[in-house]
Amino acid sequence: MMEWTDRHCRFFHRLMTRHALLYTEMATTGAVLHGNRAELIGFDPFEHPVALQLGGSDPRALAQCARIAQDLGYDEINLNVGCPSDRVQEGRFGACLMAEPEHVGDCVAAMKAHVKVPVTVKCRIGIDEQDPEEALETFAGAVERAGVDGLVVHARKAWLKGLSPRQNRDVPPLDHGRVHRLKAAHPGLPVVLNGGIASLEAAAAHLDRVDGVMMGRAAYQEPWRLLDVDPLVFGAAAPLRAPKDAAQALIPYIERELERGTRLSAITRHMLGLFRGVPGARAFRRHLASESVKPGAGTDALEAALALVADRMPEPATVAA
Ligand SMILES: Cc1cc2nc3c(=O)[nH]c(=O)nc-3n(C[C@H](O)[C@H](O)[C@H](O)COP(=O)(O)O)c2cc1C
Repeated sequence: MMEWTDRHCRFFHRLMTRHALLYTEMATTGAVLHGNRAELIGFDPFEHPVALQLGGSDPRALAQCARIAQDLGYDEINLNVGCPSDRVQEGRFGACLMAEPEHVGDCVAAMKAHVKVPVTVKCRIGIDEQDPEEALETFAGAVERAGVDGLVVHARKAWLKGLSPRQNRDVPPLDHGRVHRLKAAHPGLPVVLNGGIASLEAAAAHLDRVDGVMMGRAAYQEPWRLLDVDPLVFGAAAPLRAPKDAAQALIPYIERELERGTRLSAITRHMLGLFRGVPGARAFRRHLASESVKPGAGTDALEAALALVADRMPEPATVAA
């Protein structure tokens, strides 16, 4: 997620789940080929398994970028066919590619020819006036024939004219049933459902009808939810007990990063929702938000914020299901 799932965020999330697949922000092929690669798509080995999401529509450039990503050690390459922003439309990539299934198939085939790691696509159920039954079927058929290793479906349409990217994440209605039907029609195609999944319980309810669930905003805004992912989804022990453990476990990383010149707030901004639903969460958030931006702020600001909040999991009744 742009501006959200940077390498600091992913490192923090990985402390709470050792098994969930983490995704980078979208990186355009132009940026990967010509930009500061270490800055843009560098990552810490601790983040594995991690997928790089690419934005682009030129099969050759995508293939080159996929190879670069594989050489850097990424575990999966994902092509963005869901972003509706004007900038992305001008570049003829993102959600507008839902109208060009065969071309997306060519992109997938080109990437597949250059890498061994899985190549997946993230799409919508349709765009604009498309009929999602037909459009998603045609799209899935084209990428499946091209050898795609999985399809992540954001279960709502994107409206390319008239809605902002933010509105396009909330206004078009969700249709999880459409994604279930896609999986039923393509048993051999790994299908991951995305959109509006607000809790792990809600995620688990889909897992008998699709191969996986992608959580976006709920995972970012209430990261404590990740503490239950390994036991509830993967049948493995939870790496940490409670949100406070996650904050404390991040301190050595923060110290390393501060030494490299990273500002405290660049890391701690991803922690502001960590205690949502725990007594003291508001005081924690306010203290951290105001202190972490001060010049020279160090881990003592985080320690002081942690002293303001209880050491336990949120009350289930206080958080949205
Ligand atoms: C701040 C923000 C940035 C996003 N950036 C991306 C992105 O770079 N690539 C992408 O495929 N989706 C992006 N999305 C969409 C999410 O991945 C997801 O599809 C959407 O939020 C619906 O899932 P959710 O209800 O679980 O959040 C972004 C969403 C948000 C809120």
